[in-house]
Amino acid sequence: MVSIPLCYYGAVVTALVRILYRVITLLCHFVDLFAWNILKDSLSVGIYRRFFHRLRHFPGPFGASLTKFWAFYQVTKGNYFKTVADLHREHGDFVRVGPRELDVCNLSAVNTVFGSTSPCLKGAWYDGTHMGDPSTAHVQLEKTHEGHGWKRRIWDVALASKSLRDYEPRVLRYVDKLLDAVKRESQKNDGVVDMGLYFSFFTFDVMGDLAFGESFHMLEDGKTHDYMKIVQGYAVANALICTIPWIASIFPWLPKLEAVESLYRFARKRVIDRLPFGEKPTDVFSYLLREDRVTKQKYTQKQLDVECVALIIGGSDTTSSSLASISYFLMTHPEKLDKLKAEIHAYDGPLDHANLAKFPYLNAVIKESLRLLPPIRSGMMHRVTPPEGITIEGTFIPGNVNIGIGSYEVQHDPRYWGKPDDFIPERWLGEGPEPCDRNAYLVFSYGPFSCVGKHLAYMELCNVVAAFIRAFDMELDPKYDVSSYIPSLKDAVISSRAYLPVVLKPREQKA
Ligand code: HEM
Repeated sequence: MVSIPLCYYGAVVTALVRILYRVITLLCHFVDLFAWNILKDSLSVGIYRRFFHRLRHFPGPFGASLTKFWAFYQVTKGNYFKTVADLHREHGDFVRVGPRELDVCNLSAVNTVFGSTSPCLKGAWYDGTHMGDPSTAHVQLEKTHEGHGWKRRIWDVALASKSLRDYEPRVLRYVDKLLDAVKRESQKNDGVVDMGLYFSFFTFDVMGDLAFGESFHMLEDGKTHDYMKIVQGYAVANALICTIPWIASIFPWLPKLEAVESLYRFARKRVIDRLPFGEKPTDVFSYLLREDRVTKQKYTQKQLDVECVALIIGGSDTTSSSLASISYFLMTHPEKLDKLKAEIHAYDGPLDHANLAKFPYLNAVIKESLRLLPPIRSGMMHRVTPPEGITIEGTFIPGNVNIGIGSYEVQHDPRYWGKPDDFIPERWLGEGPEPCDRNAYLVFSYGPFSCVGKHLAYMELCNVVAAFIRAFDMELDPKYDVSSYIPSLKDAVISSRAYLPVVLKPREQKA
C-alpha cells in the first residue's frame, strides 16, 4: 500500500476550507445584495405609497397605506368589518384600508358604486375565489356586465317568485325534518340543541336538494357531511386569498388545494348524476339547464359544476347564520319574542310564505336582525373605479382604485338609523326611533350584482322562524355565556357558523 505523506492531507484540507470560505462569502454577498435590494425596494415603495400616492390624503391606519398585509392581518382575526366600522367612526366617510383600497361609508356612494349605470366594475378581489382560472368563474365572480348579464338572466328566472312557488313544498318538507331532528337531539341532551349547527344542516340540505335533486341527509343523520366541513373550513383561506388577489394568479402553477378540488369533484359527480333527469323535477338546476332568452347562451357542463357550488355556498351559510342571529336576538329580548309569539299563535292556518309574508312583526324581526348582524358584512362588495375616477359627495376618488362599502358600517350608522345598535323591530313598522332610512339596508347588496337568492332566503327565514315559534318554547341554555355570541361570529366573507345552545320545550299543539 502506498503511503501518502501527511503534508498532502494538510494541503488538500486547506484548499477545501478556502473553497468553502469563498463559496460562503459569495453566498453571503448575494444574500446581502438580495436582502438589501428587497429592503431598498420596500422602503421606496413604502415611501411612495405613504407620501406620494394618489390616495395619500385619505385617512386610515399607517400600515394599511403601506401594504395589503394590514387587511390580511385583520381578516386572520375575523373582525375586518368591525375594524373598518371603528375606523369610520374615527375618520369619517372615507378610509384608506390598503395602498390602493378605500372603504366608503356614505349612502350616496351606494348608487354611484353599485347602481345599474355605475362605471365601477367588480375588482380583482373576485379573482381570489376562482384561483386564477377564470373558466371556473360562476355568476357572482363575473366582473363585466357582458359576462355576468346572460348568466344572471338565467338565475333570475330560476329564483323568480313563480319558481319559488314550485320549490316551496320541498322547502317545507325540510322545515318538518328540521323540527323532527331538533326534537330528537333535544331528547338526548336534556332539551339543549346547538341551533347554529342544525340551521346549517337545514340550509345545506335544502340547497343540495334544489341544486342536485338530492340533499346531504344531514337532518336525518344528525351528522356533518364532508361537503359542509369543506365549505366552512375553506372560508377563511378564501377570504385571505381574496384580500391579496395576486396570490390567486400563482395558483395555476401550484398543486391545487385538495379541499377545493374535492368540493368541485363532489359537485361534478352530483351534476353527472342529475343531468339525465333534465328539466324534471323542477329545481334550480332544471332552470340552469335552459338557455338565456336574449343571447341564447347555455351553461357547459363544467360551468354547471361551478354554478352549483355557487348555489350551495351562496345559499347555505348566509341563511343559516341569519336564522341563528334571529333566534339570538329574540331570546335575548324576551318582550320582542312574546310579541312575535302573539302574532304567530293568533293564527292557526297553514304556515306558508304567501301567508307569512303578511305577518308584519315576523318580517320586522327578520329585517332588524339582518340589519344588526348581516351575514355578509364587509367583503364581496369590492368594485374598481373607472380610469377617469368618480366623485362621491364632492370627494374625488382617482381611477383604478378598489372601493368597498360594507353593509355592517352603513347599517350601524346613526345618520341613517336611530339607536343604530339596538334591536328594535318596531322601526320597520314606523313605530321606532328616527331616522329609519331603508335605503341604508344593504344586506343583499344593491344593483345588478346584488343577491339573486333574496326571495328564497326570506321564504326560508319566514317558514323556519314561524314553524319554531309554533312548535317550541325556547330559551338560551342558562349555562351559555350570551356575550360570546357576537364575537364568536368570525367574518370570513360570509359570517362563520354560530354556536347557539338553546333549550327547546315542545308546545302543546291544538288537535
Ligand atoms: C340571508 C341570506 C342571504 C344573504 C344575506 C345574501 C347576501 C348576498 C350578497 C350581499 C350578495 C352580493 C355579493 C357581491 O356583491 O358579490 C349576494 C349575491 C348572491 N347570492 Fe345571496 N344572500 C343570501 C341568500 C342567498 C340564497 C338563498 C342564494 C341561493 C339561492 C343566494 C345566491 C346568491 C348568488 C348566486 C349571488 C351572486 C349574484 C350575482 O352576482 O349576480 N344568496 N348574496
